[in-house]
Amino acid sequence: MNPFAALFFKISRRLIPRTVRMRLNKYRGPGLAARLKLGGEKNPTVLSGPFKGLRYPTYGIGSEYFPKLLGTYELELHPTFQRLANETFQDVIIVGAGEGYYVGGLARMFPSARIVCFEGDPDGQTAVSEMAVANDFSGRLDNRGFCEPGDLREVLPENGRPLLVMDVEGGERQLLDPETVPALAGTTIVVEVHDCFEPGLDELLRQRFQATHHCEDILSQPRTLDDTRGLPLSAELCPRVLPLMNEGRPAQMRWFVLTPLA
Ligand SMILES: C[S@@+](CC[C@H](N)C(=O)[O-])C[C@H]1O[C@@H](n2cnc3c(N)ncnc32)[C@H](O)[C@@H]1O
Repeated sequence: MNPFAALFFKISRRLIPRTVRMRLNKYRGPGLAARLKLGGEKNPTVLSGPFKGLRYPTYGIGSEYFPKLLGTYELELHPTFQRLANETFQDVIIVGAGEGYYVGGLARMFPSARIVCFEGDPDGQTAVSEMAVANDFSGRLDNRGFCEPGDLREVLPENGRPLLVMDVEGGERQLLDPETVPALAGTTIVVEVHDCFEPGLDELLRQRFQATHHCEDILSQPRTLDDTRGLPLSAELCPRVLPLMNEGRPAQMRWFVLTPLA
């Protein structure tokens, strides 16, 4: 990207509301991706990371688009997903699916699992359906709308060892409660914790799962040129791609990886 375009995107990140920027991705995404040789005009694929090769929509709805296409989205969680890839999950549940980065990625990672996802935005549900067709997992996908505790209770198997991936902008206080959803006790959970919106939420979740889970606390880090090392791009292109790896986070974020003790 030329320096003027980089400056434009930096300024637009500050001035244009996040939700509007997401919609604009629909228009700028494919053209920019093609100019940077990040994928074909019509059928981009994820370039690197645990979900490399995933056929991706030409737009994002819930968060920045390019980090997903590059495969550097939530890079901090790559070691977690690389480790989880060695386990067997029959049930994978994603809450706050966006356009389906984790839905598609985990469907490929666990090719015999039932995949259940929840996304409150109808555009996201449509994108997930399209991704399921493009990546051939429609037959084992249950694509749902807004998730309430009762929905989570319904889809989490009582006696299985499911994997739950959640990013719901603060809704984790209501959803991640083992008193209302008892099957959470045996569930491996990867959750983005929004204590930046609600101070103390991290501590509350830690206490709720203290008796049943090991809790790994992972903090988000700014992207650096070092993070471009895994990308199949020329050394000349890497510095130009670096601004596209910015995930536009409002603050330093944290994830909990909650692993059942028993
Ligand atoms: C930051 S985005 C998630 C991005 C996601 N990590 C991805 O891979 O694209 C959060 C999404 O959660 C959705 N959401 C929030 N609360 C929800 C709920 N209770 N049920 C379903 N979707 C929810 C929002 O509509 C939004 O698209």
